[in-house]
Amino acid sequence: MSTIQGSAIQGSAIQGSAIQGKVVVITGAGSGIGRALALGIARRGGILALSDVDERSLADTAALAKAIGTDVHTTRLDVSDRAAVEAHATDVQARFGRVHQLYNNAGIAGGGSTILDADWSIYDRVLAVNLWGVLHGTRAFLPHLVASGDGHVINISSLNGLLAQPELGPYCTSKFAVRGFTETLRVEMRQAGHPVQVTVVHPGGVRTNIANAALADARRRGEQITDEYRERIRFYNDRLLRLSPHQAADRIVRGVEAGHPRILVGADAKIADVIARLLPRSYPGLLGCLFSRLAATP
Ligand SMILES: NC(=O)c1ccc[n+]([C@@H]2O[C@H](COP(=O)([O-])OP(=O)(O)OC[C@H]3O[C@@H](n4cnc5c(N)ncnc54)[C@H](O)[C@@H]3O)[C@@H](O)[C@H]2O)c1
Repeated sequence: MSTIQGSAIQGSAIQGSAIQGKVVVITGAGSGIGRALALGIARRGGILALSDVDERSLADTAALAKAIGTDVHTTRLDVSDRAAVEAHATDVQARFGRVHQLYNNAGIAGGGSTILDADWSIYDRVLAVNLWGVLHGTRAFLPHLVASGDGHVINISSLNGLLAQPELGPYCTSKFAVRGFTETLRVEMRQAGHPVQVTVVHPGGVRTNIANAALADARRRGEQITDEYRERIRFYNDRLLRLSPHQAADRIVRGVEAGHPRILVGADAKIADVIARLLPRSYPGLLGCLFSRLAATP
């Protein structure tokens, strides 16, 4: 049995939210930021269409959201499967008759190799989920969001959609691309006068299962787990993933309620944004030194 983490973040209902009665779709809702988003939106009276590739953790999130008192629809969904995402969009529209918000949240970290060493299979997996998953979700739900008259697409990029990081090549590639795709969508929605807001979210380090899931995935695939890689996961969990999923989700939902087109989550994401703007040419050298030094510090 999986333990239901997150009961501590259920909290009480939030009255008078603009999300009250809206139909909100969240991918990757079984864990971390996705689960916390689901619970935050449930507390605001949103109606949830939740999906995840992991059925068991998804059921746990649904149980927590139902306990808050909202209507929850769940679907086992792999966002890299285009036909399945299209069927999901049709299904949600048919069930609720409308769709207002889409959080393209599902994501994976991939392995920890340099671009010189990385196997193509890591690129295939990471881009399939983090990039194609976002494209599939957006394209499939967009007609319904337009038809709702009050739509909102929220795509979860990362601090790594602003700033590169060593040994995260596939992840950075996917998250920079999500930002480009989302900003293009925003221009097009405005140009066409469609009633759809578009938000890109850049979270910094959030204390979720993302690093452990990458390690578990590598184990499942029979990849050799080096001490260096294990140490890297420990370093991420202990030093970089600091904000709680609840805090991250709260900042995201508040930003969405306020109609912000771009949401930076956490001090690290804000610093990354400033560094990328002020030092676009010199930051890669500085980052290389910083990461070597941090990794060497016990
Ligand atoms: N945790 C962080 O520090 C951080 C920072 C920046 C951005 N993000 C992004 O936030 C999003 C959520 O990540 P998280 O940190 O909550 O991680 P997490 O591992 O806790 O949750 C990710 C969820 O996505 C699901 N998932 C994985 N592959 C899927 C697929 N193919 N189809 C559907 N669902 C799938 C997993 O089962 C899991 O429930 C991701 O896009 C991630 O890249 C996370």
